[in-house]
Amino acid sequence: MLPMADRAVGSPRTESAIRVDAASKSFEKGVRAVDAVDLEVGAGEFFTLLGPSGCGKTTLLRLLAGLEQPDSGRITIGGQVMDGVPPHRRSVNTVFQSYALFPHRNVRRNIGFGLEMRGTDAGEIDARTRRMAELIGIDGLLDREVAQLSGGQRQRVALARALINEPDVLLLDEPLSALDADLRGRLQLELKRLQRRLGMTFVFVTHDQQEAMVMSDRMAVLDAGRIVQVGPPDAIYEAPAALFVARFMGHQNFVPIHGRDAAGVDTPLGRLEGAFGTGDHLLLRPETIRLGDEAQTVPNRFEATVEERLYRGETTEYRLACGGLRLLASRANRGQPEHQVGETIRVGVSPRGTATVSD
Ligand SMILES: Nc1ncnc2c1ncn2[C@@H]1O[C@H](COP(=O)(O)OP(=O)(O)OP(=O)(O)O)[C@@H](O)[C@H]1O
Ligand SMILES: [Mg+2]
Repeated sequence: MLPMADRAVGSPRTESAIRVDAASKSFEKGVRAVDAVDLEVGAGEFFTLLGPSGCGKTTLLRLLAGLEQPDSGRITIGGQVMDGVPPHRRSVNTVFQSYALFPHRNVRRNIGFGLEMRGTDAGEIDARTRRMAELIGIDGLLDREVAQLSGGQRQRVALARALINEPDVLLLDEPLSALDADLRGRLQLELKRLQRRLGMTFVFVTHDQQEAMVMSDRMAVLDAGRIVQVGPPDAIYEAPAALFVARFMGHQNFVPIHGRDAAGVDTPLGRLEGAFGTGDHLLLRPETIRLGDEAQTVPNRFEATVEERLYRGETTEYRLACGGLRLLASRANRGQPEHQVGETIRVGVSPRGTATVSD
């Protein structure tokens, strides 16, 4: 692959749709909203920025859109360096966290805005507006005024208004946050299908790790303006690069490692045999902990007391006490007998699928 500078400027197809080199942005002295971020998003990729509130997701997206200028560093879109390029000259569309609909246009004319600006034929605008509204589930609202919409409806209009333009690059800032779980789940699938079908590049912002995992090809986890880890969802979930990432991805079982040698590690649970990683905590994923008879199939076993049992249908969650620690185990329900609260049970841990993490 050629370095970006050697590529023809404005060439129609480049390896990466977006490239960010050492970009920083501060609003006040000392607080860096975006701190020396390097990033590369491939053409046609579904890329997610994931992190807690205030970590700099919106600011990074605004830098890409050209709504903020970096204090230092460089942003390249479609092979072109964006220094001084205003928002409307960038080949990106943005769905803002605050929706930002046109108040004096009804739903239909909000959605069709981009096509209208391009001088698309009225019949085609109408047909495409209807199709998009159907896909997003707002076809019954086309003649409503914006002021007459709920927050979730506004959010869907904003999404439809951006998608109808079929942009090469779409920046989406928490575009599903105002929707209930059911609708949100459906739109996650629709959005991903559409992105794939049209080969669009998405930079998608969310603070919801489940949403990030189901939607993304790759994701970047941010903390205080910095990217802590980039990778595909499974790699980040199964092998988080830091305790912060592990906690943010929802992990709860951190077992301190007191000592190690070539054959295993010493922990409050006891000695665990096997090749574990080099971090200072074991990350026991709830779904990899074996309970009762199933514990016999893995190399390391110890005893635990069931403190709580939560039946969730597909799975049962057990809160266990052992070695002075509390552990969460999750078992797929396939008709095995349930373990009761207060019962002492066998628990098994395998080095397979057990990562280690450090701060
Ligand atoms: N215009 C601004 N002026 C001053 N500080 C700002 C401005 N915009 C953002 N910040 C600060 O920069 C940091 C990053 O904010 P940003 O909006 O990028 O976070 P975020 O990750 O999008 O959060 P959320 O999930 O809550 O939307 C925060 O500390 C925020 O207070
Ligand atoms: Mg934000």
